[in-house]
Amino acid sequence: MVSPTLTAVQRLCRRPLCEIRRAQAVCIPAIHLHVTAATMQASQEDFEKAQEKLKLLKNDPGNETKLKLYALFKQATEGPCNSPKPSMLDFVKKAKWDAWNSLGDLSQDNARQKYTELVSSLISAESADQKKDDSPDEGRHDGYETILVTTKNNITKIMFNRPDKKNAINRKMYGEIMKALEEAGKDDSTIAVITGNGDYYSSGNDLNNFASALAGEAEKMAKDGAILLKDFVDHFIDFPKPLIAVVNGPAVGISVTLLGLCDVVYASDSATFHTPFSQLGQSAEGCSSYTFPKIMGLAKASEILLFNKKLTAAEACAKGLVTEVFPQRTFQKEVWKRLEAYASLPKNSLAVTKQLMRSMEKEKLHAVNSKECEVLQGRWLSEECVNAVVSFFSQRSKL
Ligand code: COA
Repeated sequence: MVSPTLTAVQRLCRRPLCEIRRAQAVCIPAIHLHVTAATMQASQEDFEKAQEKLKLLKNDPGNETKLKLYALFKQATEGPCNSPKPSMLDFVKKAKWDAWNSLGDLSQDNARQKYTELVSSLISAESADQKKDDSPDEGRHDGYETILVTTKNNITKIMFNRPDKKNAINRKMYGEIMKALEEAGKDDSTIAVITGNGDYYSSGNDLNNFASALAGEAEKMAKDGAILLKDFVDHFIDFPKPLIAVVNGPAVGISVTLLGLCDVVYASDSATFHTPFSQLGQSAEGCSSYTFPKIMGLAKASEILLFNKKLTAAEACAKGLVTEVFPQRTFQKEVWKRLEAYASLPKNSLAVTKQLMRSMEKEKLHAVNSKECEVLQGRWLSEECVNAVVSFFSQRSKL
C-alpha cells in the first residue's frame, strides 16, 4: 500500500526541469525593474542570463534544487510569498509554497543573486562532469602494459591491447588479466567486461610462449605453462560478479573456450569462433571439454573442439555460445548502451545470483580445469604440437 504522501512526492520528483522553467515563464512574464544603479542593473542582467543558462542544463538537478530554484525565482520577481497556503492534500503546490515561504523576507536583490549563483554552480558542476566523461583516461587503472583497464559507469572494462599481434595472449598478458580480474572482483563496479582492441578479439595463446620449448627447455615450459593456465582459468571460474564478453572480432583458442565461463557474450557479426586445437597438436582447455557439450550438445561441440570447425557469430549464437549478435556498424554503441543500463541494477543482487548459478558447478569446473591442464602439459611436449608450432613460425618467416 503506497501512502498518498509518498505518491505526491514521487510525482513532484518526476517533474522535469522544463516544467520548472515553464512555471517561471508563466509565473513571471514581465520583470519590473526600477533599478538605476549600475551594479543593480548588472545583477538583473546576470539574473536574466542565468534563466537562459538554466535552459542549457542537460541533467535534472533533483527535486530539492528545483524547488530552491522555483522559490528564489518567485522571491526575486514577486517578493515574499503572499499567496494563501495550499491545502495539505495538494502536496505539490504545498511543497512549492513551503519553499517560497521559507525565504521569508529575503530581498528581491538577494534572491536574484542567490538564484544566479545556484544556476552557475549547477552549470559548472555539469561541465566538470562532462569533462570527466570526455577524458579518454578517465577511470584508467595504472600498471598494465598488455591490457587497458578502466572503470566507468559501474563497469570495469578489461581490454586486450596487443592489436598488432591480434591480441595474442603472452605470459605477461596472462598475469595482467589475472590481476585485473582480482581487482575488478573487489572494486565498486557492478559488472566486468572483457573485450579486444582493434579488429580481433584475440588470436588466443601467443605461440611465442613455446619459444623456450623450442630452445630445449620443453619440460619446464610445459610444467610452468600448465600451472599458469590452471591459475588463469581458475580466475574465470571464481570471478564473483557478472562477467560479460564483448567479442569485437575474430576469436581463436583460449579466447573462445573462456566464453563458456562468461555470463553473457555479445558478438559483432564480424566475429568468428575457432579452436584449432587438433591442428596444433593440442587439446581442449578453458573448461570447454565440459562447458561446450553442455551448452550446445556433444555432437555440435565435437565438430568444434575435435575438428576445428570455425563458427560465424550467427552460428555461435544459434548454438548458445553467444547471447546476441549485433551488426558491426552499431556494435559498440548498442552493446555499451545496454551494458550501462545493466550496470545500474543493484550490484549485490546481481553478484549473489551469479554466485548461486556458478556454485552449482564450481567444484566440477575446477576439476575439469585441472584435468585439461594436466593433459595439455603432455600435449605441449608431443611431437605433434612441436611440429605445428615450428610450422606456424616457419610459414611466417617465409612471408
Ligand atoms: N601467437 C603469436 N603471434 C601471433 C598470434 C599468436 N596466436 N596471432 C597473431 N600473431 C602475430 C603474427 O605472427 C603477426 O606478427 P608479425 O606482424 O610480427 O608477423 C601479427 O600477429 C599479425 O598476424 P597475421 O598472421 O599477420 O594476421 P592475419 O590476419 O594474416 O592472421 C591469424 C591472423 C590470427 C589468423 C593468424 O595470425 C594466426 O593463425 N595466428 C595463430 C592463431 C593460433 O593458432 N592461436 C592459438 C590457438 S590454440
